[in-house]
Amino acid sequence: MTEIYSIVSGKGGVGKTTIVANLGVALARLGKSTLIVDADIALGNLQLFFRLKETPTTLHDVLGGKAEIHEAIYKSSDGGVHIIPCGSSLQGFLRSDLERLDHSISRLQNYDFILIDSPTGLTKYSLLPLKAAKETLLVVTPDISSTSNALKLKIAAEMMQSKIGGVIINQQRRNGVKSEEIGTTLGIEIFGEIPYDRKVLKAMDAKEPVVTYKPRTPASKALNRLSLKMAVLVDESLRPQQNFLQKWLHQVRTINGGG
Ligand SMILES: Nc1ncnc2c1ncn2[C@@H]1O[C@H](COP(=O)(O)OP(=O)(O)OP(=O)(O)O)[C@@H](O)[C@H]1O
Ligand SMILES: [Mg+2]
Repeated sequence: MTEIYSIVSGKGGVGKTTIVANLGVALARLGKSTLIVDADIALGNLQLFFRLKETPTTLHDVLGGKAEIHEAIYKSSDGGVHIIPCGSSLQGFLRSDLERLDHSISRLQNYDFILIDSPTGLTKYSLLPLKAAKETLLVVTPDISSTSNALKLKIAAEMMQSKIGGVIINQQRRNGVKSEEIGTTLGIEIFGEIPYDRKVLKAMDAKEPVVTYKPRTPASKALNRLSLKMAVLVDESLRPQQNFLQKWLHQVRTINGGG
């Protein structure tokens, strides 16, 4: 079964594309076959992370009824993650019908994970990718405007019966709104937290996801933890081995009814 996530946000520039690129690479490195899709059909830039040489067929062609979705899939240079780039022409955007996304994605059966990068905000373009996904992850930065925009998007997603899998707090700083406060305000479980990290910007300049550019930097560690959490949800064998003390504590809690 394929886990299909749409990654959305109410406010722009919070890190959706960065998260999709990095989680895609990290999941592939965990051995999960992963496809990332750039559905930001007006301003897509997921491709920039991967130095793809030529991409003659893109999502624009698929959504314009000119190509099959299989024809728009490319491999990253290390072959790990598969990518559907968006296309960059204005004509391509104008010809694209996002209503086709749901059906096109449903034809892809051979992936463990499909992550869909979505346009920002509360528009038809940002809401249609939710229909193609089984779960939605909401990205926010730790500030009031991002959180209040996220709340509007959450309400819209619920109206569309889209399952919200959790909130990812990105670019967290010491003086940012506390993650727990954001989770409580939104009434959504915190799925992950990624610190503000200048290496993310450096990686973008180098046209590379930070998890490969600087694997040990704090943002990379957080992204790798997040990808492991996603992978464990579908594959228990990836759960990190517990040490003796953790096993003992788990047994004591179980005996005491703590689960
Ligand atoms: N954890 C982080 N620490 C520092 N900078 C970050 C972090 N995450 C993302 N950024 C930077 O924030 C900027 C916006 O990121 P990104 O393009 O991924 O956001 P987005 O939500 O996809 O934006 P848009 O709304 O334009 O699609 C980029 O310059 C990126 O490098
Ligand atoms: Mg983006």
